[in-house]
Amino acid sequence: MKNYKVKLSVPLMNGKEQEYIAHAISENEIGPRGRYLELFKKNISEYIEIENVSLLNSGTSAIHLGLKVLGVKEGDVVLCSTFTFAASAFTIVYLGAEPVFVDSEYETWNMCPEQLEKAIVSEMNLGKKPKAIVVVHAYGMPAKMNELMAIAKHYDIPVLEDAAAAFGSELNGQKCGTIGDLGVFSFNANKIVSTGGGGALVSQNKKYVELANYYGSQAKDKVDFYKHSSLGYNYSMSNLTAAIGCAQLESLEDKIQERRHIYESYKKSIQAIGFQKELVGIRSNRWLTCGTLESQVAVQKTMNAALSKQIEIGRLWNPMHCQPFFYKSRSYLNGCSEDLFKKGVTLPSSENLTLEIQKEVAKIILDQKT
Ligand SMILES: Cc1ncc(COP(=O)(O)O)c(C=O)c1O
Repeated sequence: MKNYKVKLSVPLMNGKEQEYIAHAISENEIGPRGRYLELFKKNISEYIEIENVSLLNSGTSAIHLGLKVLGVKEGDVVLCSTFTFAASAFTIVYLGAEPVFVDSEYETWNMCPEQLEKAIVSEMNLGKKPKAIVVVHAYGMPAKMNELMAIAKHYDIPVLEDAAAAFGSELNGQKCGTIGDLGVFSFNANKIVSTGGGGALVSQNKKYVELANYYGSQAKDKVDFYKHSSLGYNYSMSNLTAAIGCAQLESLEDKIQERRHIYESYKKSIQAIGFQKELVGIRSNRWLTCGTLESQVAVQKTMNAALSKQIEIGRLWNPMHCQPFFYKSRSYLNGCSEDLFKKGVTLPSSENLTLEIQKEVAKIILDQKT
């Protein structure tokens, strides 16, 4: 484990986190029921303007249940962004289904609409109409949802938005996670709203969220004895976790402004870097500022130089179609995600990052060019 003084993203716990946790403990509400769960659900629901919210113990469980309520089962094909964190794809395998990967476009780095359509048509020609599409909003940047949703609707395939890192990001004023049939958020320890570990599944469709609540709390049938007609999971969020979430949510808009500011400041000082594009009508929460350098060698040199100063600069995701575990999976590729992996870096982006450190990061990157 490397010892960094400056990390990519640390949770800022400078609100009422301790007060709310102490209160939950004093009320003896530390399990899967309690007032903070109700409050967190209500506040998320108001913030993202969607009624149905299921609070779970991770973003991964939320994707798993989201796919399950869409009816994904053994032998099904599910299309998934290849440029993502493994949880988006692992959950497809949990259900015995087959992930088929779709490459990104170079503007937002998210699922490429042309590749998506190519994948759907080719899979249908193989007699495998995809059961669902998992679209990821990489590092908080919204995908081209208008185009992607139009294609999905045309072929009548439901979309699950993996908005794990995109809480608060928007497309034309609509929050990421509320555009597809289902949306997922993560509140793990490095996310913009951090509860240490947690997630949410949201949908305009009440039935999906009710079903997810049922499966996620051990599939207990509504009778006064233990009866289980389905396979259940222990995925509920605890009231303690929700207490932290309530406090975190109170400063979310400030956090987004600060992270956006950090991005602007990097952009000004490091002109040579290729950043994720915020297209017209888009607001990214800029959870992590990421960019591409001129070569893989530059990435390695930059990371080494940063490490010597105990500053964390990371690599971008290694796409799923390049993972040994998924070596058998089909994929529809255009080279984008592999380029991003080769040339991309993630930069420290916590809200409390000082201007001094930002300048140091910029200098490290610029020095590798000379
Ligand atoms: C794109 C994406 N999907 C899913 C997850 C999984 O979320 P969690 O860590 O809350 O299980 C992550 C976590 O970082 C993620 O980045």
